[in-house]
Amino acid sequence: MGKNTKNFVIIGMTHSGEVFRPSDWAERLCSLTSLLKNDKRVKYSQFVRPGCTSTGVKTVIVNPHLREADPLAWKFVLDFAKDHKLQFESPPVSPAYTAVAETFRARHSVRRFLPTPVSRDVVAELLELASRSPSGTNAQPWKVYALADMDRAILSAALLEQFDQDATEKPDYEYYPDHWEEPWLSRRRKLGFDLYGLIGIPKGDKPRMKEQSGRNFLFFDAPVGLIFTLDRRLAQGMLLDYGVFIGHLIIAAQARGLASCMQTAFIDYPDTVRRFLGISDQEMIVGGLALGYPDPEAPENHLVTEREPVEAFTTFRGF
Ligand SMILES: Cc1cc2nc3c(=O)[nH]c(=O)nc-3n(C[C@H](O)[C@H](O)[C@H](O)COP(=O)(O)O)c2cc1C
Repeated sequence: MGKNTKNFVIIGMTHSGEVFRPSDWAERLCSLTSLLKNDKRVKYSQFVRPGCTSTGVKTVIVNPHLREADPLAWKFVLDFAKDHKLQFESPPVSPAYTAVAETFRARHSVRRFLPTPVSRDVVAELLELASRSPSGTNAQPWKVYALADMDRAILSAALLEQFDQDATEKPDYEYYPDHWEEPWLSRRRKLGFDLYGLIGIPKGDKPRMKEQSGRNFLFFDAPVGLIFTLDRRLAQGMLLDYGVFIGHLIIAAQARGLASCMQTAFIDYPDTVRRFLGISDQEMIVGGLALGYPDPEAPENHLVTEREPVEAFTTFRGF
């Protein structure tokens, strides 16, 4: 079999963990595929060979080039594995995968930060990593305003003033639906209930709820606040690219020992944000991000949010 081709291995073990019988199934399967190719002599195909795991479980090693070389044999082997619910050998888990998985699991939104500064170099490094994210036609539609110190504080003050006065501005795009339906309504309620519960805000305490909402505009005290904009000459579909970019960014931050909170709260005051940044209406305000070191003492940073199991949101077909 080709040295550079990644073969895949069918293991003589069913999905429920039973050893597949008869014990010579692998040899038989390999013989059958060779017979399909050459009905005079029984000789294993160069693409399908029997093997064995380190624990003695029989396997069949398949070269994926079999599909072009002998489509019938390819289909036969794959159907055999599927019909008998046999396992495929998974590629070994690399240390990189383990580290990335740990980073994903450790990340959560942080809503109270330490005043510890984050250097411009670190912010630039994270943004450079995030810019490795894919975007349609490689358009790279993101534009970021990174604010620290007084620049961040002045924007926060201007936004808080608007918020305190219940001022309204028209968001550049709709983020929330007008009416929340299930199951999203319950999830949203649970988040609010859990968050306010942790901070000790009783149900219906509107002044304290408002105060907590207002902390969005302080970037939750984070030393760095990012504002994301999108050029209106691009279509709204490019918000997808933005989502991927921000996803990369928050994972890079987490891996660097930093924490973050994505915030669409800023879309409530696009005109104030634009005025402060000195940018034209051509740039729509996509949202913001609080970035910094988490305050481990803050109860709100201990919020654990749940997720639906994969089977609840995925329809698997053809496996
Ligand atoms: C696009 C987007 C916008 C968000 N906007 C806000 C926001 O304005 N304020 C806030 O406190 N959290 C905001 N969040 C954080 C979500 O509440 C949080 O991601 C969600 O509850 C899941 O919790 P986790 O991030 O801790 O896993 C936002 C998250 C995303 C992805």
